[in-house]
Amino acid sequence: IPIERYRNFCIVAHIDHGKSTLSDRLLEHTGTISASDGNKQILDKLDVERERGITVKAQTCTMIYRYAHDGHDYLLHLVDTPGHVDFRAEVTRSYASCGGALLLVDASQGVQAQTVANFHLAFAEGLTLVPVINKIDLESADVGRALEQIEVAFELDPTKAVKVSAKTGVGINGILPAVIQNIPPPVGDPNKPLRMLLVDSWYDTFRGVVLLVRVFDGQVRAGDKLVSFATGNQYTVGEVGIQYPNQVPQTTIRAGQVGYIFFNPGMKRIQDAKIGDTFTNVGCEGVVEPYPGFEEPKPMVFVAAFPTDQSHYQKLADSIGQLVLNDRSVTLQKDSSEALGAGWRLGFLGSLHCSVFQDRLRQEHGADVIITEPSVPTKLEYADGTELVITNPAEFPEPSEDHRMRSAKIFEPVVRATVALPEDYYGKVIELLEAARGTNEGIEFFGNQVIMKYEIPAASLVDDLFGKLKGATKGYATLDYEDAGWRESDLVKLNLLVNKVAVDAIARIVHRSQAVRLGRAWVEKFKQHVSRQMFEIIIQAQAGRQIVARETLKPFRKDVLAKLHASDISRRRKLLERQKEGRKKLRAVGNVVIEQSSFQKFLSK
Ligand code: GTP
Repeated sequence: IPIERYRNFCIVAHIDHGKSTLSDRLLEHTGTISASDGNKQILDKLDVERERGITVKAQTCTMIYRYAHDGHDYLLHLVDTPGHVDFRAEVTRSYASCGGALLLVDASQGVQAQTVANFHLAFAEGLTLVPVINKIDLESADVGRALEQIEVAFELDPTKAVKVSAKTGVGINGILPAVIQNIPPPVGDPNKPLRMLLVDSWYDTFRGVVLLVRVFDGQVRAGDKLVSFATGNQYTVGEVGIQYPNQVPQTTIRAGQVGYIFFNPGMKRIQDAKIGDTFTNVGCEGVVEPYPGFEEPKPMVFVAAFPTDQSHYQKLADSIGQLVLNDRSVTLQKDSSEALGAGWRLGFLGSLHCSVFQDRLRQEHGADVIITEPSVPTKLEYADGTELVITNPAEFPEPSEDHRMRSAKIFEPVVRATVALPEDYYGKVIELLEAARGTNEGIEFFGNQVIMKYEIPAASLVDDLFGKLKGATKGYATLDYEDAGWRESDLVKLNLLVNKVAVDAIARIVHRSQAVRLGRAWVEKFKQHVSRQMFEIIIQAQAGRQIVARETLKPFRKDVLAKLHASDISRRRKLLERQKEGRKKLRAVGNVVIEQSSFQKFLSK
């Protein structure tokens, strides 16, 4: 099949508008999978995706389609894109490998936040968009409204829209002709040196890292020697092929095609497969222009994890290592806390990404792991211009320790959020966004839908803004966001003090206006989970230099040890032995001994 008869496309949609269902239907329609397979949602391969019903990684599938109009066979690559905003870098890379996209809108819901955000991304990549209105079988479907919205919001021609039900199959046969007519074929020269973009990668126990690639120029076959522009590493190709829908080896993949490759010997570390990297033939580095820039995954949300019992450290280390192996966007480093012992600090792209990981860790380790509250980075700019980005709140310098802090500027990361909702909830949502320290950047009404743009601190997102939005709108609001840099902010470090000693792992950087409320909540909650001891325990919250909340835990009325006579050796020994058993799970904060489980309860919701 010549390159003029290739089409590479993806589906741009809000979550749940039916992208996976439509993909399945197209694969059936072209005979790539059989309808009786029960092979639902073939493209969602990762377990997490199945568990949560979301697409996290980009997948792709090749289809061969006989176009009735000219009687020719076409080679179609459907690239599935991640459905969630945390994975925006991956979305952009998937778009880069396509010539166009189906803009899929649920007829009963209309245009939503991610429809808008993904439209802008796809448009910026220069993709040709074909509107598709889905779920026309639903009673609540309002096709007219959806058509009007795509015209108003995206300036797309509503007469070009294909109306379908991905569920029943109605209208499906109109989609591929629209793809062939409207989406341009890829351009590229199979006779030039190789120019190949890395779109996605995953780890395979037997083959090492498998790469999903788009070949722009040249061709690639087993035995070729390739070099990565990003790392300079050289590899020998072991196998190339297409996903049809499973991996089917080919002798070559050529300019214009999307396929998989792996090396021999295999690539060992997923971190060496940088999404957006360009590969070429060894020796052609000088003549081939790499694809512009790749983005290192930039973690936005951090947590620390500690074993409840330090003797389980290795077990936990192994399973964190396993989880990280297949997810190059998690950053991992060792951490240690005076209160919680040795552990790890993990960085994630966003809060969903973080919570998926936390869920898995908790599923596997239950009571054996303590996970701290998610935090976002903070940037300090000293008077002399030096900058410092802090990802561990415990490392935020106190003004008493670092005199430069007095004149330092403090910045927090902000995001540009797009929120879509029915007009009825408008007032409530504005209140919520203001409380989240957002600044309004524009509002658009169309029909009974409102689309608002707000600049919001990333810390508010991590603080479950999405959950709150859903709560305030009976589940109707949708949210999307993109990174918007740093904003200067009045932040302080909030410490929890136990008998004057700070519990390092619990510290958080918060906005000054929230310090008192949060500090009170902390001390009350901590008091509930700490057992009484022989002496009085004072629990305080400290914001900067100020104590903002305090609770006191009274000692036991009777001091058991005091009653012991010094000569009563056997009783004393018994007591000490009993203590030793428990010691593994106990930590000392200053002179106060605290059970690990107290921290765990304190940190759980
Ligand atoms: P993500 O992968 O999470 O982005 O979701 P998605 O956009 O792939 O949505 P998915 O295909 O999983 O569909 C979401 C829900 O809508 C499922 O329960 C589907 O069965 C249902 N659905 C999809 N298409 C149609 C349709 O045409 N009509 C009706 N009634 N339901 C549909």
